[in-house]
Amino acid sequence: MRKVLVTGGAGFIGSTLTQALLERGFEVVCLDDFNDYYNPEFKRANVAGFVGHPGWKLVEGDIRDAALVEEVYRRHGISVTVHLAARAGVRPSIREPRLYEEVNCLGTLNLLEAAHRWGAYTFIFGSSSSVYGVNSKVPFSEDDPITCPVSPYAATKRAGELLCFTYHHLYGLKVTCLRFFTVYGPRQRPEMAVYHFAERLSRGQAVPRFGDGSTARDYTYIDDIVAGILAALDGDAAFEIVNLGGSRTTTLAELIQLIAARLGVPPRVEELPLQPGDVPITYADVSKAKRLWGWEPKVSIEEGIDRFIDWYNRERRR
Ligand SMILES: NC(=O)c1ccc[n+]([C@@H]2O[C@H](COP(=O)([O-])OP(=O)(O)OC[C@H]3O[C@@H](n4cnc5c(N)ncnc54)[C@H](O)[C@@H]3O)[C@@H](O)[C@H]2O)c1
Repeated sequence: MRKVLVTGGAGFIGSTLTQALLERGFEVVCLDDFNDYYNPEFKRANVAGFVGHPGWKLVEGDIRDAALVEEVYRRHGISVTVHLAARAGVRPSIREPRLYEEVNCLGTLNLLEAAHRWGAYTFIFGSSSSVYGVNSKVPFSEDDPITCPVSPYAATKRAGELLCFTYHHLYGLKVTCLRFFTVYGPRQRPEMAVYHFAERLSRGQAVPRFGDGSTARDYTYIDDIVAGILAALDGDAAFEIVNLGGSRTTTLAELIQLIAARLGVPPRVEELPLQPGDVPITYADVSKAKRLWGWEPKVSIEEGIDRFIDWYNRERRR
């Protein structure tokens, strides 16, 4: 059975993926530093159900620590890496660019280097739609030129993709870089729009709306992302960059309306200016994922928000 290292395995996407991998009989090693970018208690709760599972091991540590990363590959006999650990978030990356560079670039380099040295040839990298920057052509396709990232976060994710290519070229690592488009669903990071808006609206507070509400995002439900990661694992490509997105756009104003309607509260907003680093639109062309793996997004934004609000209400009661 292949042993999978999931970096960031206590986070939103990593812990949901881990659940699916364990159900498929994979052994999973989680490497996560439980940092306080958001409340680490959320991350402890994400992995609580795995504790004691014979197929799951936890290594608490930092991917910036090259010796520790080497030791994880050596000790655990890893053959597959799903690299999701990162500092995520556009706006905080403008405040702390060095931290983003260290974790997202140096950390990725440490993993690629150890994967190559210890013969772990399959490598999946969690990239981001933010690499497209202010792309005037929609939907965004993997062949679009991407030379204008507009935040340090976006630049570090693109740098990660480039490092992945280098390790594929030099050492034959089989790498798939997945560009996730705004992921939401149960266990979502609490500072992200869907969660944050649900929290404020359910407390009777206004939602901070940056801009006039016309900025649009391609929202992707977590189960579709997990299905895409599993498809990439099975696909075992030599080197590919692949979009995973809902392939439909929702404006900020529509999102706020939708969440408020599902919560049964009025959609109160506080209007604020657009933020540096924000892009007007993200929109995925997912034809490559369909061609390679038959992957398509299955969960509409309406259904996904329903599922999220059900989970959120249950969590709130707990
Ligand atoms: N959620 C999205 O909408 C989205 C969109 C595009 C790309 N991504 C990418 O997907 C990945 C997972 O995102 P997420 O939303 O699950 O975020 P998350 O913050 O919930 O998960 C990331 C995990 O990585 C861990 N981590 C961070 N720095 C680390 C370090 N130095 N050493 C070890 N562990 C560290 C964190 O503690 C966290 O548990 C990230 O790489 C992110 O950039 C996410």
